Amino acid sequence: EQIKKGNYDHFMQKEIHEQPHSLTTTMRGRLRDNDVVLGGLKDHLKTIRHSRRIIFIGCGTSYNAALAARPFMEELSGIPVTLELASDLLDRQGAMYREDTAVFVSQSGETADTLLALEYALENGALCVGITNTVGSTLARKTHCGVHINAGCEIGVASTKAYTSQIVVMVMMALAIGADKISTQSKREAIINALPDLPNKVSEVLKLDNEMKDLAESLIEAQSLFVFGRGYNYATALEGALKVKEVALMHSEGMLAGEMKHGPLALVDETLPIIVIATHDACFSKQQSVIQQLHARNGRLIVMCSKGDASSVCPSGSCRVIEVPQVADCLQPVINIVPLQLLAYHLTVLRGYDVDQPRNLAKSVTTQ
Ligand code: AGP
Repeated sequence: EQIKKGNYDHFMQKEIHEQPHSLTTTMRGRLRDNDVVLGGLKDHLKTIRHSRRIIFIGCGTSYNAALAARPFMEELSGIPVTLELASDLLDRQGAMYREDTAVFVSQSGETADTLLALEYALENGALCVGITNTVGSTLARKTHCGVHINAGCEIGVASTKAYTSQIVVMVMMALAIGADKISTQSKREAIINALPDLPNKVSEVLKLDNEMKDLAESLIEAQSLFVFGRGYNYATALEGALKVKEVALMHSEGMLAGEMKHGPLALVDETLPIIVIATHDACFSKQQSVIQQLHARNGRLIVMCSKGDASSVCPSGSCRVIEVPQVADCLQPVINIVPLQLLAYHLTVLRGYDVDQPRNLAKSVTTQ
């Protein structure tokens, strides 16, 4: 086992640091001549383009990856995109039509809820697309078509590199679906040009490792942690909080910053640590005002911002700032999750919990 971990103490740590490589393999051979080539989808792109909606279905981190994908999938495809937690779709027996494209996202390809939702979608006649890391998995076999994320084997129960590779696959899928849409061509080209440099940007953000360890030291005794995000980074807030709760066993909630005034604000005081994701995108000024409101209530603020923005997100200098490299808005969730993965990892080690086998959890949830 130690051989497989290489120079790392834990699989989760190794998998976090492997992301520049896993993202490279996810994109390998798929970006060509200013275009995206996804072999597993090419015969179905026409059907997808004519769907009445795209429904993403998954559980846990895979659901969060789909949530990160929704804004750009909608923008680049022009097709309405909805999201379903697999268990909730089954509980409700939610509406599903022949004209729908149902996209199932699962690292293992064996999650029971996701597979049951797949059966349900097949029965209802939807086109079923699989996005998985596991070649030969039930998901890969039972869907009509799909894309492997090629992130390499993920062993830590906490999903890290699969999350970032899932997002990149969904970016490529959105680019492929939107290839014939004139109005988004310049944005499409900008993303295609930015993708090859993404692994370098991830290497850059991984240099925050010691800073995140230091932040974890300051949070060891905290009872709770809030993470506020919105837009492209609403998913980052949910996923960061999920990582902290599942491995560091600390209560943590990811929230949509736009909902702050509708309840969560009541919990804010000088003891509760709050991470606000405020990297530069269309939601930046709204996040600045969230920071001001939290500041006015003496919130214990940790702000994630784009490099060089520290003084504009925290003019008083009273909050802790995590500066990350800026990339195209739809790729920013891939960068922004990395410091939160590192934080969850260090918090777990410092609190003395099992990093790779958190209590009560299994890597693949094969029962309902
Ligand atoms: C992620 O850290 C969790 N272990 C969990 O939420 C997981 O993502 C979920 O069970 C779905 O698994 P899958 O991607 O293999 O379907």
